[in-house]
This record gives sequence, structure tokens and C-alpha cells, in this order.
Amino acid sequence: MESETISGRSRIWLMVAMMLGASLALSACVSMAGAGVAPVIAPVADCPTVEAPRVVSFNEQWASSPHADEDAEAFRHWDAETPQEIPVDCARCHSRTGFLDYLGVDGTAVGVVDSPAKIGTTITCYVCHNEATYTLDSAVFPSGKRIGGLGPEARCITCHMGRASTMTLNIRITEANLIGDDTPSPDLKFLNSHSTSAATSFGSEVQGAYEYNGKSYRGRYTRGDDFFACTRCHDQHTLEIKIDTCVECHTFTGEDVKAIRVYTNDIDGDGDTTEGIAFEINQLQADLLEAIQVYARDRMGVPIAYDLAHHPYFYIDTNQNGSVDAEEVSKENVYNSWSPRLLRAAYNYNYVAHDAGAYAHNSTYIIQVLFDSLVDLGGDVAGKTRP
Ligand code: HEC
Ligand code: HEC
Ligand code: HEC
Ligand code: HEC
Ligand code: HEC
Repeated sequence: MESETISGRSRIWLMVAMMLGASLALSACVSMAGAGVAPVIAPVADCPTVEAPRVVSFNEQWASSPHADEDAEAFRHWDAETPQEIPVDCARCHSRTGFLDYLGVDGTAVGVVDSPAKIGTTITCYVCHNEATYTLDSAVFPSGKRIGGLGPEARCITCHMGRASTMTLNIRITEANLIGDDTPSPDLKFLNSHSTSAATSFGSEVQGAYEYNGKSYRGRYTRGDDFFACTRCHDQHTLEIKIDTCVECHTFTGEDVKAIRVYTNDIDGDGDTTEGIAFEINQLQADLLEAIQVYARDRMGVPIAYDLAHHPYFYIDTNQNGSVDAEEVSKENVYNSWSPRLLRAAYNYNYVAHDAGAYAHNSTYIIQVLFDSLVDLGGDVAGKTRP
């Protein structure tokens, strides 16, 4: 790292250079010796010295992010399809062209993807910086709810909102026309919430998780009166967490944000009220999976296991060892004995698994839905607390 002297004005140049992606070398600072006297170049030793960070261009920052990872499954998933294209259902969030189509930048209708997208594009600069995104200030969630009054994070939300909600799951269950909550049916199919970080942040306002009848749930996760935009915690280009921001309010080592905790009651009933809230949530998730497995085995008569790495995640646990083994991953072995009760709990389990930042996005909402799923399945909640 080089140490350089920087005057106030050259900061502007620093910004310009960052935009251009150029590296720059600043020389000595300028001081006025007195009125009417020509500026002289002062000796470097007299200037305030600051450590200038290495200038990283936006292009470099973006290139290091998952949005630019052209080998990612999220961009390559359709390579082997015939025809080789990304269907309209998927194109909005998985391609450059699909998002521009959704925004109407390509001249087509706004708010729908009109045609399949070509494969092989990523989330490039123009996806986020175009005529439409500069004024985009709302997003319509899978529940049908439009959230307005948004800033530049509206674009993030448009892709990270998930693909299902309490409503869509209720419709699916109603359409299967079953007599009871514990009746399994091959007509009932699993519903995948997909990637849900932005839905979690708004909680019950958009009902991304399954909300049980008669229970109340937290809405958007405000901190005091303040609702944090995505880019207050995630750098908009690297997507990394800005840990310096968290330290302003939270007491922790400043290294692992999973250690953060504000809520003081014991959630998971393990007696530890100082562990990070992420660990309380992890334990509740583990307890819910166990309850799902007990219910499936005892009530449906068909054992179940979960693996986030293999869509559609829930498989028949043929050897009953509690996890999905390589030989259990096949189309024929996808879990198929869903009762409405099992489906709701499984939906929520998978929902939480699809938001790696749930504990920071809206810990209260996530704990509430996990807790209610556990109760509905008849799981043990002794010693546990629902916020
Ligand atoms: C509303 C936006 C949206 C839509 C529509 C969407 N996805 Fe995604 N998908 C995402 C996001 C965001 C991720 C990245 C998730 C993450 O890493 O947190 C993702 C990740 C994936 C991945 C990577 C592996 C995984 O499971 O995380 C696959 C595969 C995928 N989606 C398939 C599909 C398919 C197939 C469709 C259409 C049927 C589809 N997606 C529709 C937003 C969407
Ligand atoms: C995932 C969305 C996204 C992508 C992709 C993206 N940006 Fe940005 N960018 C933002 C957001 C959000 C902001 C902050 C709000 C604003 O200025 O619109 C921003 C701000 C900027 C700014 C203004 C300076 C600042 O810090 O506010 C510049 C310049 C910029 N981006 C350049 C780029 C370049 C060049 C690329 C591609 C290499 C790129 N962006 C890719 C979302 C994105
Ligand atoms: C056009 C759709 C789209 C937009 C707009 C978008 N994202 Fe993404 N985002 C994705 C997809 C697809 C992935 C998965 C990429 C991959 O797996 O490499 C992703 C990945 C991510 C990840 C990493 C997830 C992981 O599993 O590591 C974060 C964090 C993220 N996005 C945050 C944001 C933020 C913040 C914004 C707004 C500044 C934003 N995204 C805008 C589609 C989008
Ligand atoms: C209060 C800070 C905060 C806010 C606000 C926030 N996030 Fe996050 N986000 C986090 C943390 C912490 C993680 C977990 C990161 C980790 O474990 O590496 C995370 C994880 C994610 C992930 C998954 C990354 C992965 O590694 O799989 C995505 C995608 C994401 N956030 C998108 C968003 C979007 C979109 C928004 C705005 C709606 C948002 N976040 C708002 C703190 C925040
Ligand atoms: C302006 C102050 C402030 C900043 C900055 C801030 N937080 Fe928070 N955070 C809060 C408050 C206040 C709460 C409690 C909100 C509530 O439950 O009503 C909270 C709650 C949380 C929780 C849930 C704790 C629990 O026990 O349920 C997590 C996790 C968290 N924040 C992570 C982060 C991360 C990660 C960052 C940085 C990227 C961050 N916060 C930045 C004020 C802040």
C-alpha cells in the first residue's frame, strides 16, 4: 500500500479516476504562502499525510462479484436445453436481456418478459444502470403486493424477491381439493420459494414465507424508525457486507456478523442467550427439519430428507439415514406424499434455507414462521420463545 498526500480538491479527481478505472498518482499538496503570492509547492513533510487505499475501479469491484460470475449455475443452468434459451419465467432475473425486457428498456411492455432470453449473459452494468432503473422506485412481489417509495435498491428487490408466497401456497393447496390437513395426495406438489432475501426484509407486508392463519407476523424489519436499503449493508458492486456499518450500532468483535444479537430471550431453548441470533435460527431450523422428518415417517408413512444442493430439495429417504444420498437424487425419488400440513412446513423450511442472510434481513419474521411451523407439526417447543 502506498502512502500519498491528498488535498480536498484532488478527492474529486480520485472519484473521477475510480469511475474511469484509472490508477492515479497524486503529487505534493499546494499551499498559499500569503495573499497575492503565487502558490508554492510545499515540502511534502508539511502536508497532512493520509493513507490512500488502493483505488479499485467499479469494473473490478463488479467483476469480483457473483453477478459477474459467468460460470455460475444461475447463468449456465439452461446451456443444455433445446432450444438453448432461458424461458420467460426465468429470464427476468437470470439474464441481462431478460431484465431489460422486464423493465421495457427493449421497447416492449413494462413489467413482463415477452420473449425467452439468449443464454450466456450476466448482471452487467447496464442491467442496473439504464433509462428505466434511474426512476424505478417500486416492485411487485409474488403475493401481488406492490411496495413503493423505494430508492436504487428497487432493482435488487426486483430480482431477489423470490417466486412464491402465502397466497400462492394457499392456492396450490385449495386446488388439490383435499379433505383434511393430514391427507397426503400425489396431486399436491412441492412449492419452491426460490431466492428470498428481499421478501424476508419486508416480512408480513409481502408474505413471502407461509404465514399461519390467526398468527401475527412482523412486517418490514426497521431498525428504530430506519428501514435499511440493501446497499446500506451490501456494497452495490462487490455485494460484500460492509462490516464497518454494523459496528456503528452493534457490539461484536467486528469480524463475524453472525455473532450479532439484539433480542434477549432464549429462542431455541438451549439456555444460551448470548450466542448470535443466527445460531438461534440455525437450531430452530434443525428442530423443524427433525419435526418434518418425524411427521413424514409417522403420519405419511414415507420418510423424507432435504438437500439444498439438489432441486427440488425434498427426496424420499429410502434408507432412512436422515439425509439425501447420491443414489437418492433422481426424478423418481422426488418426495411425493405431501399433506397440506407437511407442505406448509416444508415450504417454510426451504424458504429460510434460501436466504443465507435471513438472520440480518428480518430475524423476528424468520423466527416466527419457523416457530409456527414447528408448533403446527406437533414439534416440541418447551423452553423456546416466539418473539
Ligand atoms: C424473481 C427472480 C427470479 C426468477 C423469476 C427466477 N430466479 Fe432463479 N434465482 C434468482 C436469484 C436471485 C438467484 C440467486 C440466489 C442466491 O444465490 O442467493 C437464483 C438462483 C437460481 C439457480 C442457482 C442455484 C440455486 O438453486 O440457487 C438456479 C438453477 C435457478 N435460480 C433456476 C431458476 C429457474 C429454472 C427459473 C425459472 C423457472 C428461475 N430460476 C427463475 C432469481 C430468480
Ligand atoms: C446490481 C446492480 C449494479 C450493477 C451490476 C452495477 N451497479 Fe453501479 N451502482 C449500483 C447502485 C445501486 C449504485 C448506487 C445508486 C446509484 O447511483 O444509482 C451504483 C452506483 C454507481 C456509480 C456512481 C458512484 C457511486 O458510488 O454512487 C457508478 C459510477 C457506477 N455505479 C458504475 C458502475 C459500473 C461501471 C458497473 C459495471 C462494471 C456497475 N456500476 C454495475 C448498482 C449496480
Ligand atoms: C437482474 C437480476 C438481479 C439484480 C438486478 C440484482 N441481482 Fe443479485 N443476484 C442475481 C443472481 C441471478 C445472482 C446469482 C449469481 C451467482 O450465483 O453467481 C445474484 C447474486 C447476489 C448475491 C450473492 C448471493 C450468493 O449466493 O452469493 C447478493 C448478495 C446479491 N445478488 C445482492 C444484490 C444486490 C444488493 C442488488 C442490487 C444492488 C442485486 N443483487 C441486484 C440477480 C440479480
Ligand atoms: C442489515 C444489513 C443487511 C441488509 C439491509 C440487507 N442484507 Fe442481505 N445479507 C446481510 C447479511 C449479514 C448476509 C449474510 C452474508 C453471509 O453470511 O455471508 C446477507 C445475505 C444476503 C444474500 C445471500 C448471500 C449468500 O451468500 O448466499 C443475498 C442474496 C442478499 N443478502 C440480498 C439482499 C437484498 C436484495 C437486500 C435488500 C432487500 C439485502 N440483502 C439487505 C445483510 C443485509
Ligand atoms: C443504525 C444502527 C444499526 C446499524 C448500522 C446496523 N444495525 Fe442491525 N440492528 C439495529 C437494531 C436497532 C436492531 C433491532 C431491531 C428490532 O428488532 O427492532 C438490529 C437488529 C439486527 C439483527 C437481529 C438481532 C436479533 O437479535 O434479532 C442482526 C443480525 C443485525 N441487526 C445485523 C446487522 C448487520 C449485519 C449490520 C451491518 C451490515 C447491521 N445490523 C447494522 C441497528 C443497526
